[in-house]
Amino acid sequence: MSLITINDEKRIFHLSNGKISYILAVEEQNLLAHLYFGKAVSGYHDGMAYPRFERSFSTNFLGDEKRIYSRDTLLQEYSSLGSGDFRIPAIEILTESGSRISDFRYVDYQLFSGKKALEGLPHTWVEKEEEAETLEVYLVDEATQLKLCLSYTIYQHFDIIARSTRLENHGVQPIFIDKLASMSLDFPYAKREMIHLPGSWGNERQIERKPLRRGIHIIDSKRGTSSHQENPFIALVSSHTDEHQGEAYGFCLIYSGNHEAALELDQYEQLRLTMGIHPSGFQWFLKPCDIFQTPEVIFTYSDQGLNGMSQNFHRIIEERLIRSSYKKKMRPILMNNWEATYFAFHEETIKEIMGSAAQLGIQLFVLDDGWFGKRDSDQTSLGDWFVNKEKLPNGLKGLIDYAQELGIKFGLWFEPEMISRQSDLFEKHPDWYLHVPKVEATLSRSQYVLDLSREDVVNYLFETLHAILCDHSIDYVKWDMNRYLTDLYSVALAPHQQGEVAHRYVLNLYRLMDQLTTAHPEILFEACSGGGGRFDAGMLYYMPQIWTSDNSDAIARLNIQYGTSLVYPPSTMGAHVSAIPNHQNGRKTSLQTRADIAMTGVFGYELDPRQLTSDEQAIVKKQISYYKNHYTLLLYGTFYRLESPFEGNTCVWQVVSKDKSESIVTYTNILSHAAPPLRRLLVKGLEEQARYYNSETNQTYYGDELMYVGFYLYPIFNRFDFESRVFHFKRV
Ligand code: DGJ
Repeated sequence: MSLITINDEKRIFHLSNGKISYILAVEEQNLLAHLYFGKAVSGYHDGMAYPRFERSFSTNFLGDEKRIYSRDTLLQEYSSLGSGDFRIPAIEILTESGSRISDFRYVDYQLFSGKKALEGLPHTWVEKEEEAETLEVYLVDEATQLKLCLSYTIYQHFDIIARSTRLENHGVQPIFIDKLASMSLDFPYAKREMIHLPGSWGNERQIERKPLRRGIHIIDSKRGTSSHQENPFIALVSSHTDEHQGEAYGFCLIYSGNHEAALELDQYEQLRLTMGIHPSGFQWFLKPCDIFQTPEVIFTYSDQGLNGMSQNFHRIIEERLIRSSYKKKMRPILMNNWEATYFAFHEETIKEIMGSAAQLGIQLFVLDDGWFGKRDSDQTSLGDWFVNKEKLPNGLKGLIDYAQELGIKFGLWFEPEMISRQSDLFEKHPDWYLHVPKVEATLSRSQYVLDLSREDVVNYLFETLHAILCDHSIDYVKWDMNRYLTDLYSVALAPHQQGEVAHRYVLNLYRLMDQLTTAHPEILFEACSGGGGRFDAGMLYYMPQIWTSDNSDAIARLNIQYGTSLVYPPSTMGAHVSAIPNHQNGRKTSLQTRADIAMTGVFGYELDPRQLTSDEQAIVKKQISYYKNHYTLLLYGTFYRLESPFEGNTCVWQVVSKDKSESIVTYTNILSHAAPPLRRLLVKGLEEQARYYNSETNQTYYGDELMYVGFYLYPIFNRFDFESRVFHFKRV
């Protein structure tokens, strides 16, 4: 099947896999125009040729005496700055002459099967050449001889288009890139709403939705990481779109640093979206013959509402982004000591915790922060990756040997990108952190950020971590990162390259993670940044799971995990049962509720198992064995959001096995109510004619009965606040 058809005469490119279509065309003056993106169409016959008529004050071309063709209004694929299009540009450059004006025109294209790798950047990939086709369209700016390559890949079995942009300097002068969007997309007039995922530490990825009005709307992070505050994601929907029906367009940037999605609803209510590296503070020096490659955006269209959009993202992320050998496997159920001990532990304490954990059926023990240097608080020692012998007199080996005796795996926490002022590393290399010489750098959590734009720093980190991982039998690494980037200046770079620091940091971080994960493919890596401060598709390329939030309260996690699931599948979300009262917000919830909610992610515990009563131990054992039996469905089933905690008093989500033979629904009634509405459980995604047995109600139902009739949840619910239930349906 050909996925991309080209009408060479009319110069129209149609990308379609039978479910989605994306159409672009070369118009007069060799402008690259956008025609359509949405539900698949069989063919295209000029219906969207942009209307030619004069609009007052519009910009025109020499020779267009009727003044009917203008860049001011045309829907474009990648807009230049200063040459007649006043909307948000996709590219901004600064030339030696001081000019910022560019004017990119179509020159050529290339079509091929498969998809190229993006050197040094995380990206979606193909397993077989035939599963995708790529169109590269080339545009040139005559004055500077800069060449843009716009790359579009369409997959046959994923309703996804992957776009990225490359800029090549074929001129004789160097230039500065001030902005180079990964993609730009113009939508024709229609009423739309935007959905994004703002948040904060402990409250990440909260869904917000609002109608678009004229003007500019920015979704961004200038924190050096993808951030707790805005995920590199945006969706555009119709006003009637809900979880199950209506049109939804979703855009996800595969990048872990400063990002921007800029939306502009223009004077005629046409909508432009540009997405990519944040232009603020960014400037890249591009010499003749040099190339700059942007990160990739994956985007999707669904007419099956937000669930359709999310399922498209989940599938591509699980199947063509994540590379880890763990991507389809059971993730070991872990016990992490952070909330049990914080920094105050000794080998004996840890061994006791490990012993109790093993008895419960835990498969992996993770030693968190505090095992190295003189790390008794967060004031010191980041960078000193050698064991604290006062706490662990027998070193890591003592614990690893004990884990092996217990028959469990051993995992270790690192925060490689940081340096404490009070550390041996700082004494030795006082210029290795991001700072402007002679200017006091900004602290955060009493630490500085290592200058990862420097090769020597990255090489040192690789050697240090690699040596520890080679010398010890470590099964899991938690890669933490506990502050944002400030003082973005590198003493190792020339003055005219200081605008490159933030992006070089990310590129070198990717290189470091790539080297380590390639050298240690058997290790399960989990990313973390004070919880979900760097929960993005870029990180997932290297590490298959991310600690979703430092907020481990089950009820807060409803919103966090629900919001996160808009883009990212359950198999990427670290979710743990912690102690009550919860350490972040003081809430008390039952052990069942805490586990029910954590089980719809990568499951674990983050508490002191020695404090559990014997009744609680019995419950925990059952939970662990339940997860072991159902992890394939819980982690890799098709995920449906059924009822939103952002909209009411319930949160309901469901996973369905790929063959529809099994499904698990997690139902949470947030606050109990004296006069509750009589809610029913209605599910999705089952086989209509099949019969499903549910052990909780001891009933067998038809698939269509469960989907359209449902059943009442009362009186089994509403006994107390924060009550949850898990319903398991199995085809008979
Ligand atoms: C932040 C992480 O999110 C926590 O889980 C824990 O590892 C601490 N850092 C340790 O400093």
